Amino acid sequence: MDQNRLEKDNVLRIGGVSSTELAKICGTPLYVYDEALIEDKLKSYQTHFKSNLFDTEIIYASKAFSCGAMLRLLKNNGFSLDVVSGGELYLAESEGFPMERVYFHGNNKISEELEMALNYGCKTIVVDHLMECDRLISLAERKKKEVHAIIRINPGVTAHTHKYIITGDMDSKFGVSIQSEETILGMIIRMKASKYVIFDGFHAHIGSQIFDLRAYDTLIERMMKLFKKLQEMHKIEIGCLNLGGGFGVRYTDQDQPKTVKDVCENLIGKCESEMAEKGIRLKKLMIEPGRSVIAEAGCTLYKVGDLKETPNRSYLFVDGGMTDNIRVALYEAKYDCDLANKMDQVRNRKYTIAGKCCESGDILIENAMLPEVKANDLIVVYGTGAYGYSMASNYNRMNKPAVVFAKDGKAHIVIKRESYSDQLRFETDEEVFA
Ligand code: LLP
Repeated sequence: MDQNRLEKDNVLRIGGVSSTELAKICGTPLYVYDEALIEDKLKSYQTHFKSNLFDTEIIYASKAFSCGAMLRLLKNNGFSLDVVSGGELYLAESEGFPMERVYFHGNNKISEELEMALNYGCKTIVVDHLMECDRLISLAERKKKEVHAIIRINPGVTAHTHKYIITGDMDSKFGVSIQSEETILGMIIRMKASKYVIFDGFHAHIGSQIFDLRAYDTLIERMMKLFKKLQEMHKIEIGCLNLGGGFGVRYTDQDQPKTVKDVCENLIGKCESEMAEKGIRLKKLMIEPGRSVIAEAGCTLYKVGDLKETPNRSYLFVDGGMTDNIRVALYEAKYDCDLANKMDQVRNRKYTIAGKCCESGDILIENAMLPEVKANDLIVVYGTGAYGYSMASNYNRMNKPAVVFAKDGKAHIVIKRESYSDQLRFETDEEVFA
């Protein structure tokens, strides 16, 4: 997103690497990550999410973007990992990610996934509800395997961009409602009675792309009130609290995110003051950022194909679209872009950047101001590092793009581009009933 990274010939450089060279060698569409920017974010979280009163842990939400190279960066920078499926867990195991730093989430972990987690030695399961709590206890007892558990709470705080509302409605599919104290207590009692499941504490996640930190203040107040009750009335000690992720990032000038430092200091400060005020003991505080770690470090390069004028629009067609970035069609997400091979020219034309899928909603950016664009020019869409590749699809049998990490003038492909034959590898004609 740093728009001052230019070569002498006014070509965008990413991680010191020329975007036009990358496009030539690796093809387009192409996801490119500036590796140093990812590392800066990881280090910044590690520097600022600290307290003198309790331990801290930062857990990356791998759903935002994951691959072996990303997991290695996380591992080397002391991060833990949130996984939400057997697939994400499998990647973590294959990469040798330390299983004592893996947290397994999800509202419907199927029994095979839970068993897989226990077999791998995944330390902590984030238990979503009562039925899962019972399933986990019987599985751990059957396998005679110790596992830690934290309970996901639905705190009744739903945060939206730029404002927050506190819903009276407790019907989210995630977690146990904070109002259901008997259920929460029942789950803790069952875990404590089990020889194999160790109750550690609580988790809550209030949404994504949140700018107003007061939503987290409300979350912390509510959780601490619950802890006070559990401590005083039921003599239950709370080991840890995970506040989830959701910290906002800049996609366009409309977005004014807080810095990592501000976010961390706010959360730590609020927890410390609530604990002091309510006399609460807590061993560890965790957060679980995804987007804010990775979004701004990534961008997508597209080659311009044809251009077309309609009565009210100048269309510019690119060689990707909703298959590599579904966020525009799904959430009306907004992005910034540039003409990566003509960064010096004045942006005096208005274009609608459309993808190549057979879908009218396959528009990447409306009203994009760019210099005059010609076929074969290179478009860069900034800020696509989170929920781009991870939500990519093969709609229209498009191949998923490759992913490149660039740093200090060097680039390496960390995920290969799919081929048409890759897409056919599951074609078969097997008989089901003989
Ligand atoms: N923890 C939990 C339990 C979550 O469900 C999520 C995201 C995170 C952490 C990380 O949130 P983040 O820091 O990335 O906002 N596909 C949507 C975002 C869905 C978020 C799902 N949960 C998008 O592209 O905007």
